[in-house]
Amino acid sequence: MPAATQKKSAIPTPAQLGLKSGNAAIVGLQWGDEGKGKVVDMVASAPKAFDFIARYNGGANAGHTVVVGKTKYALHLLPSGILSRGKVNVIGNGVVIDPAKLVEEIEGMRAKGVKVDSKNLKISDRAHVVFPWHKAEDKLLEASSASPIGTTGRGIGPCYADKALRVNAIRMGDLLDEKKRVMEVARIAKFKNTLLASLAASYQLEYQPVSVEQLLKDSELQLKVLAPMVCDTAMLLNDASAKGKRVLFEGANATLLDIDHGTYPFVTSSNCSSLGVHTGTGMAGHKVPHVIGICKAYQTRVGSGPMPTELCDSTGDRIRQIGREYGTTTGRPRRCGWLDLVALKYTATVSGATCLCIMLLDVLESFDEIKVCVAYKINGKKTDRFPASAELLAKAVPVYKTVKGFGGKVSDVRKLSKLPAGAKAYLRLIEDAIGVPVVLASVGPARDQTAVN
Ligand code: IMP
Repeated sequence: MPAATQKKSAIPTPAQLGLKSGNAAIVGLQWGDEGKGKVVDMVASAPKAFDFIARYNGGANAGHTVVVGKTKYALHLLPSGILSRGKVNVIGNGVVIDPAKLVEEIEGMRAKGVKVDSKNLKISDRAHVVFPWHKAEDKLLEASSASPIGTTGRGIGPCYADKALRVNAIRMGDLLDEKKRVMEVARIAKFKNTLLASLAASYQLEYQPVSVEQLLKDSELQLKVLAPMVCDTAMLLNDASAKGKRVLFEGANATLLDIDHGTYPFVTSSNCSSLGVHTGTGMAGHKVPHVIGICKAYQTRVGSGPMPTELCDSTGDRIRQIGREYGTTTGRPRRCGWLDLVALKYTATVSGATCLCIMLLDVLESFDEIKVCVAYKINGKKTDRFPASAELLAKAVPVYKTVKGFGGKVSDVRKLSKLPAGAKAYLRLIEDAIGVPVVLASVGPARDQTAVN
């Protein structure tokens, strides 16, 4: 049957992605914005599949838009399962929570008729809190740095840094103890106001001191919403899993932004690879047999840092325009380029991807020729290994394989086997290089614009 006349099938089921039983994680394999939201939403909303949807890393730096019917939902901290009835959503201990942002998001959802309460949203008592001083510190560090990271300004790095430092950190569970909250907020605000005012002054930058009185007032109101949701989510998930309930772990950011395995220092401050699932929720490795790796048909990046296949030309502009490549959280234009298989092999390995979903395949359908990076030349030497050093990666010259275009439209196709020959060959090239099966190709933004086996 010609692609354009194929009958539209229903939205793919988790079973069609090989997820018949067991827990699963969905992770980005590039620099974020791969379209995880669409796959998470598809898998999370399937009835009788996953019971719990858990976020394990990052904070309000992440963001994706889910379209259900005619309504658009922008999610930053809330797990995607919030849009589906009967699912329990968990914000794990590895997430850093900005209570103001979370309450705003919850109220926004409620205004759209989405149920959010202590039955369908659970917040880890071990998750760290992002305070206004973290956001101020984030901006001051960027403004005073000789080599800014291009952060989202959401206070993520400073909050994780304080978590590791331990002296000036507060966890969600601590907020519930009023005496501790009042004392700690006052003590830390004094310390941060002194430190940040002095940092700002030495760089002729502005710093607005945090008012303890206002912060405590805001906190009290936020806790009216959040306190009933705070609990020991690690035991909640482990107990549920032991009783046969299934958990879907939803990654934020992506493997190349992982603090340990990404393009350091141009990364975020959490373990956003699948490795973070375990520390970020308290669920051991052997309890998560499936890792769904999400990857675009090309490469994008926001913020600073090396990107070997970046195209600073009309081809890059064309990808950006067709793919509407502008950030969900910050609105920044994304850097665009050809698919980097060296980076993908590395991230699929580190994250232990058991299958791949190739997103935004339709964006490349009008190209007569497509390039794919199969190796790098670094200092004149050819390699297929992804270097640890950002300086070396910045020197990497991509070695491209040029392939023919898809030879037809893909956006109406719903079965991988019915894709035009060029598109099938493109997916096979990826599978062969990575050694992991492609189980899904996204061919448009709608839930049903998806091709599976
Ligand atoms: P931070 O997470 O705000 O500290 O930003 C660190 C780096 O990660 C910057 O380059 C950000 O642009 C990037 N980043 C953080 N979250 C995301 C995301 O969800 N998508 C894409 N890039 C992100």
